[in-house]
Amino acid sequence: MLKIVVMVSGGGTNLQAIIDGIRSGLITDTEITAVISNNADAYALVRARENGIPAYCISPKDYAGREQFNEELLKQVDALKADLIVLAGYLVRIPEAMVHAYSHRIINIHPSLIPSFCGVGYYGLKVHEAVLEKGVKVTGATVHYVDEGMDTGEIIAQKAVEVQPGDTPEILQRRVMEQAEWKLLPQVINQIAHNGQ
Ligand code: GRF
Repeated sequence: MLKIVVMVSGGGTNLQAIIDGIRSGLITDTEITAVISNNADAYALVRARENGIPAYCISPKDYAGREQFNEELLKQVDALKADLIVLAGYLVRIPEAMVHAYSHRIINIHPSLIPSFCGVGYYGLKVHEAVLEKGVKVTGATVHYVDEGMDTGEIIAQKAVEVQPGDTPEILQRRVMEQAEWKLLPQVINQIAHNGQ
């Protein structure tokens, strides 16, 4: 049984896709042991609680400094004894000590085809705004392992999505989620549950 901890900051539609994937049998031999958010108001925490999953808020705001937050985050994650940590729209940088302690055991979903439209400043709608501004015709989503850099870790899987004439950042974001993110992340988790890392 693969025990996963899902880390979130916002709406949690990717978390929902994982919950639904487990429920429908698309993901097997996998259990979400906890959901962690840096943001107490994240709707993802409601989704977790509604589904009987322990949900915690660990916010940098509650600690004297980033170092104290980083230490506490690692301590709490360690206590959950996860096999895999899934970053599903988690907007806080993972502390280096945690990256090292969980090498090839932290994955992230990014809403573009890495190495395009990724790295510092490319998150949320900003990614899709940049895609439209550049005028590329294909975008998508990437699941990758997390290393010390920003969206630089080894790529596990990608799925392409077409940009359509008349797209707004919001419309494109929704299409990338529906056609790529919500499918890719559950698939990769199931793959890791069965084939290891
Ligand atoms: C997704 O687009 C994810 O790829 C990105 O942040 C968004 C989170 O959405 N990193 P949600 O919270 O899963 O709805």
